[in-house]
Amino acid sequence: MKTTVFSTSDLEKKEVQKKIKYNLENDELVVFPTETVYGIGANALSETAVKKIFSVKGRPSDNPLIVHLSKAKDVYKYVNNVSKHAEILMDAFWPGPLTLVFESKGIFSPVVTGGLKTVAIRVPSHKTAKKVIELSGVPICAPSANISGRPSSTLFSHVLEDFDGKVSIIIDGGPTDIGLESTVLDLTVDIPTILRPGKITKDMIEKVLNISIINHTEVQNGLAPKSPGMKYKHYAPKGNVTLIDGSFEETIEYIQKQLFDKRQNKCAVLCPDEFADMLNGDTIIKLGSLDNLESIATNLFKSLRLMDEMNIDYIYIPAVSYEGLGQAIMNRLLKAANQNLIKL
Ligand code: TXA
Ligand code: MG
Repeated sequence: MKTTVFSTSDLEKKEVQKKIKYNLENDELVVFPTETVYGIGANALSETAVKKIFSVKGRPSDNPLIVHLSKAKDVYKYVNNVSKHAEILMDAFWPGPLTLVFESKGIFSPVVTGGLKTVAIRVPSHKTAKKVIELSGVPICAPSANISGRPSSTLFSHVLEDFDGKVSIIIDGGPTDIGLESTVLDLTVDIPTILRPGKITKDMIEKVLNISIINHTEVQNGLAPKSPGMKYKHYAPKGNVTLIDGSFEETIEYIQKQLFDKRQNKCAVLCPDEFADMLNGDTIIKLGSLDNLESIATNLFKSLRLMDEMNIDYIYIPAVSYEGLGQAIMNRLLKAANQNLIKL
């Protein structure tokens, strides 16, 4: 298949708009930027279209998709029981990087919901994402635009690498802003529960709801994962990743020793700027300052992808605090490291 690439400004053109609409109506896939990561979009009402997403991503069929809407009020068409809590959250955080899990009316095929009775819905704030959904006139399923298991795409080059020749259209929106996928919050349980941490933090949600909520981001032994996506290996580069949790000095010393012991191998350190300034090594990649977790989030996935491009064998990453956005960063890092966390 030949993939057509458009820029976000091309979307002003009538013929480009027509082409996007036509492709989505005809069950083709369109990759577009959102404020979190790139998404690979299909008509959520067409089983044929949705099945294509699973096949090009190589995604396990029991991992449900997020349905993207252009307007918050469309949610009432597809779900039952929009609670007071849901309305407060929709008001506070939509459009934006918060996905809410509702009881489904059953309009979406089990292919979308992974056979669950619930459905995850998000209204993105990115202008291009909104425009694509509006043009299609239908709800759009859009998982992150990466081959299953790889880090989500935050750059146009990532999308091209994974999907050139496999989807009909890719819209180049440049680097995505947040760089981590949306927070997923389950509203179908007694106490709202975070299934995937993101930019909208537990504190932010608790503040607007004025109650305590649950953060269920780790799969507990023996319990079925609440969010099917949580049980899969994700974000892991080919090299061996070690996360290090210790004081600043201990961490520097530990990493420096590893770089020496493994000097016959290709090693890299992905770290906050403060660590980078203190380390000696061939490949020290700065993620951003500890005072600016936003920049660490934005740079994380592209740095993980870079490890494969550079054929790195051993990757060392200092842990960050679990405070605020740190929760989401550590969630992705622990997966990238296959839970390999050294506590000093
Ligand atoms: O920021 C984002 O959310 C991006 C952009 C493109 O919008 N999309 C995204 O989609 O990250 P995806 O498919 O990569 O991740 C969806 C997550 C998975 O962990 C999945 O298991 C969970 O949402 N999910 C979807 N439907 C669910 C449901 N009904 N109940 C619980 N978890 C659900
Ligand atoms: Mg994903």
